[in-house]
Amino acid sequence: MFNVNEFQQRRRQLLSQMGNGVAIVPTTPEAVRNRDSHYPYRFDSYFYYLTGFTEPESVLILIAGEQNKSILFCRDKDMEREIWDGFRFGPQAAKEQFGFYETYSIHELDKLMPTLMANQSQLFYSLGFEATWDKRVTNWLNKVKELARTGVSAPEAILDVRQLVDKQRLIKTPFEIDLMRRSANIAAAAHNRAMTITKPNKKEYEIEAEFLHEFYKNGAQAPAYTSIVAGGANACTLHYNANNCVLNDGDLLLIDAGCELDGYASDITRTFPVNGKFSPAQRDLYELVLHAQLAAIDAAKPGNHWNAPHEAALDVLVQGFIDFKLCTGTKEEVLENASYRQFYMHRTGHWLGLDVHDAGDYKDKVGNWATLEAGNTLTVEPGCYVRPADNVPEHFWNIGIRIEDDVLITATGNDVLTKNAVKGIADIEQLMQT
Ligand code: GLY
Ligand code: MN
Ligand code: MN
Repeated sequence: MFNVNEFQQRRRQLLSQMGNGVAIVPTTPEAVRNRDSHYPYRFDSYFYYLTGFTEPESVLILIAGEQNKSILFCRDKDMEREIWDGFRFGPQAAKEQFGFYETYSIHELDKLMPTLMANQSQLFYSLGFEATWDKRVTNWLNKVKELARTGVSAPEAILDVRQLVDKQRLIKTPFEIDLMRRSANIAAAAHNRAMTITKPNKKEYEIEAEFLHEFYKNGAQAPAYTSIVAGGANACTLHYNANNCVLNDGDLLLIDAGCELDGYASDITRTFPVNGKFSPAQRDLYELVLHAQLAAIDAAKPGNHWNAPHEAALDVLVQGFIDFKLCTGTKEEVLENASYRQFYMHRTGHWLGLDVHDAGDYKDKVGNWATLEAGNTLTVEPGCYVRPADNVPEHFWNIGIRIEDDVLITATGNDVLTKNAVKGIADIEQLMQT
């Protein structure tokens, strides 16, 4: 059942943040792949967050202040097109089922927008993301300005509507947390399944196929991003996604894969031995990354700043790099000269939600880190990537490890949404033997 109240509440919250003025939030256009074939359609996350409406060619208009109303422009019912492409709500059913104050055909947008923008002091629109929309909105503004002689005023300020929605999106509602938990559970099951079916001489893409199978079978609509299935040295390429190599006995396999369920992403990385048994060198580095991850997860709690988990992970990793002779000097020196970046060159996480790298600032306006709050969702994903080099002990060459979980900040600490994905060495080895 579609939860009308949830989406109406989000619109009410935005309307009250706006105070007065008109907001324009279009969804993403369809993208042609070639001739009459399109890329799989994915709605705009801001539009979807405020509407729950998944059809292309739709625009949300919010008018704050006394009018305080939300209007949807969408495609008309069209039996001919529906025979070819499938169901469309049309304005009437969209109004009833999605709880808008008014709905209109998308064909009326250019005609009605100058009137809807007239005498509004502020325009909330995100410039610079889609040139066609920028041009269209500018045309409407110019039309309103042309009416100045008749006593109509045009918006004086253009403000970024996405910045307001970003603040809302940072704190997940119980409805969103439930979806994220389900998305996390589907992805966790897929990672566990991958461990049970991986064997030497299989191909990376065979394992990728198991993820797609598990995602779709459990109701996820798509992968949340292109899966990384990286055997051996491929794991040292951070965004590797060719996924076309043979998995070799004695190598590790790093898989970074998550699904999208009703718009919400999961984002999990697990690293495990292709043959089911960690070598001593693999075990050393895996335990190090796991300790770093557990320390980072401990630091993900309300009141801590955004960078606290990263600092906690670095503290553990740097000491390990020194102990394993990957870095030289004291911990303070290695942190100061950043020589650890040869092996750990990315940050420890990002916001997670409708987008895998979700909306929301990491710093405030004066440059201080954001403070973690109950309802935030983020990833915690330290790693270690050792490319062959003269200064590196050879037994570590070509080992790439990342361990990534999705974490909800709660009132008292956190909840690891992806805890069902196995990650302890003994648990992985046991699962792979069954
Ligand atoms: N899968 C993308 C990331 O981990 O950031
Ligand atoms: Mn991630
Ligand atoms: Mn990831």
